[in-house]
Formats: sequence, structure tokens, C-alpha cells
Amino acid sequence: MEDLIKRAAQDLAEAKNVAALTGAGISVESGIPPFRGKGGLWEKIDPMEYAHIDAFMRDPVKVWNVLIKEMKDIVDQAQPNAAHKGLVRLEKLGKLKTIITQNVDGLHQLAGSTDVIEFHGNFAWQRCMDCDRRLKTRNVDMSQIPPHCECGGIFRPDCVFFGELIPPQHLSRSQLAAAQCDVMLVIGTSAVVQPASYIPVISKEAGARVIEINPERTPLTGAVSDYLITGKAGEVTGRIVAELERLL
Ligand code: OAD
Repeated sequence: MEDLIKRAAQDLAEAKNVAALTGAGISVESGIPPFRGKGGLWEKIDPMEYAHIDAFMRDPVKVWNVLIKEMKDIVDQAQPNAAHKGLVRLEKLGKLKTIITQNVDGLHQLAGSTDVIEFHGNFAWQRCMDCDRRLKTRNVDMSQIPPHCECGGIFRPDCVFFGELIPPQHLSRSQLAAAQCDVMLVIGTSAVVQPASYIPVISKEAGARVIEINPERTPLTGAVSDYLITGKAGEVTGRIVAELERLL
């Protein structure tokens, strides 16, 4: 692993425009379980039954009671870890321009990253399905489930459910960032959910170096990424940034 950490630091030292694609794995060390794999949320509940827009439309009470309440409790308490902070440092060093995150936990912004594209939305906000009014999740009156807006409409998380499109402005900005970077860091994503998993492919085709940080191999490994640094996001990112600072 040491050699690959040095290699990543060298690649970053030479880079002018770094982008990152992050997934649930980057927040695992903050105490938020991932979706897939051991201990993952989709092991406990079926995403098609709780995280698909059709399921929400069919039975919002059921989805609110299980998925949304569970996520709220977890996300409310989570704090950024060494990986989120490492990416902030990378931005301050003038390397990292844009983070494209699939996470809805807001931890990149809480850590201090300034350009974060929330590909799947943000759980910190709820949106009225009738009048589109947005309200901070923590300010939503949950005494009645599903919570209702003043207009009588139902609040839903300002996130992308399965079966919904990625907001077009997020998609186009992500594609641009992916095409313009010279290094793409792919941290803590299983890379199985489209279209997010296509983002590193855009970078690769545009000639960027693609570096993965993940304890496990993914479909990108050996196919799209130049190399995988096998390990936890916090530990690996922290060590890469420390090594980079020695080089600069
Ligand atoms: P997944 O749960 O699919 O994958 C998590 C990845 O993190 C796996 O590849 C793990 O090996 C890796 N991992 C676990 N612990 C880690 C650690 N400490 N450091 C680094 N990596 C670690 O999460 P995503 O790829 O983000 O969609 O899932 C993509 C989308 O699927 C999510 O945004 C969500 C879900 O359904 C929506 O909510 C729309």
C-alpha cells in the first residue's frame, strides 16, 4: 500500500484539476452504514420496497416510518471523518476543484468543502410534493407521519429515489467536472449505480488518471481505474494528503 500512496501523492502533485466521486464508504468511518455489503442498509430493508419512488407514492407512511426516520437518526449525529477532512485539505492546497458525491449526509460541506455536487440530493432538506417549498429536515414537524406542508402537501426528502432522474443541472455539472479533471479520485463507492458509476469513465476517456480508494474491488477496478488503494477512506486519504504536503 505504501508504494501506491506515494504514487497517488505524486499524481496529485502533478495535477492541476482534481475531482472526486464519493460514495457511502467515505462516511462509514463517521458511523453511517453503507447500502451494500455486510451491515449495509439494503441487507436490512429491500430498496425496491422502501427507496423507490413508486413505493413512496404508494405508501408514504411506510417509507417515512422505516427509511426516512432511520436515516434521519443516523445522519443527525454524524460528523466528518479524516477522509472528508483530507478532501478539504486537498482543496486548500489548490488541487481539488469539485466533489461529486452520491451521499445525502452533507458531511463534505460540514467538513468545509466548497464545491460539492450532491448527485442524489441532500437529506438535510425536505420538499413539499405539491408546492415545492423546501424546509430543513430538522425543522419539519414529525408529530404526524407523513409530515405535511402548510399547503396540505406531503413532505418528501430532497433526495433522488430509485426510479427518478438525477437533477439535470447536477448531471451536466458532474459530467463537465469529470471531463475537465486530470485526476479523478473515486472513494468508497461500489460503482454499481448508474449514472454515477459512469462519471469515472468520462474522466478516463478524457485522459485523466483514475485512482480508487476502497477496501474492496469494484467493477471499475482494473477496467477504468488506473489503480486501487485497498483500505479505508479516512486512513488512506489522510496518508496521501500528508505525503503530498511533503512533496509540494
Ligand atoms: P454502496 O453501499 O453500494 O458501496 C459502499 C462502498 O464503500 C463499497 O464498495 C465498500 O467496499 C466501500 N467501503 C466500505 N467501507 C469503507 C471505508 N471505510 N472506506 C472506503 N470505502 C469503504 O454505496 P454507494 O456506492 O455510495 O442511492 O451506493 C450508490 C447509491 O446506491 C447510493 O447513493 C444510494 C444507493 O442506493 C440512492 O440513495 C439514490
